[in-house]
Amino acid sequence: MFKIARLFRFKRSNLLYLVISLAILLWCMSVGWAFNRALGANPTHTLAQLDPNRPTVEAGKELYVSTCAGCHVPIPAEVLPTETWQQLLENPQKHYGTSVPNMIRLTQVLIWDYLKTNSRPILLKGSPIPYYIEQSQYFTILHPRVEFNESITAKTCIGCHPGIPDFNYRTLSSQWEDAP
Ligand code: HEC
Ligand code: HEC
Repeated sequence: MFKIARLFRFKRSNLLYLVISLAILLWCMSVGWAFNRALGANPTHTLAQLDPNRPTVEAGKELYVSTCAGCHVPIPAEVLPTETWQQLLENPQKHYGTSVPNMIRLTQVLIWDYLKTNSRPILLKGSPIPYYIEQSQYFTILHPRVEFNESITAKTCIGCHPGIPDFNYRTLSSQWEDAP
């Protein structure tokens, strides 16, 4: 009798452990699931849901202009693929033979929020990352009416885009504004 009682006690405590372990496991799984949903295990899904006007993107845009328009015009995110921006942001000390100052972590994170929200990944997966606007398919796509004869650099944009000081590429010079 004594033995059976001990065995029973033993089993009961075992069962208790099992129940507690199961509860912890279930809790972990549900927390993991919730996190996955919140962070988006499927990035394209979340990207579509994210509001492009959210405050961090606006702050990132302002920081982008103040950080990246000291030496050349602010280049709009949409003319280059996301991969280019990622490379440039990750290597501010190796920037076309110079270095970008004031790139602290928070600046990088906010600028990245603006750039990735407003650009798209390379069209042809595996093709080389374009480091010059001239090589970017997105630049061509954004200029259906324009046939570029001379080479394109950040210095030539202003000729047709007088709104650049306000980071506005929609306003065009009169010759293009009035063209069919
Ligand atoms: C210290 C000056 C300086 C700052 C600040 C700077 N750049 Fe540049 N950037 C350059 C130089 C110099 C070039 C090369 C221009 C050339 O070769 O015609 C360049 C070229 C570029 C190009 C290629 C332009 C083209 O003509 O195709 C991109 C894109 C670019 N920079 C992005 C950025 C970004 C993003 C930032 C901010 C994180 C930034 N730049 C900040 C100096 C700077
Ligand atoms: C020869 C004139 C010309 C030059 C130079 C030029 N653009 Fe444009 N851009 C245009 C025209 C015109 C449009 C409108 C689309 C069209 O009609 O092809 C346009 C449209 C755009 C747009 C889309 C604007 C929007 O939101 O509707 C962006 C972004 C842009 N250009 C960026 C640039 C950048 C960056 C440069 C310099 C590297 C540049 N462009 C140089 C003429 C030019």
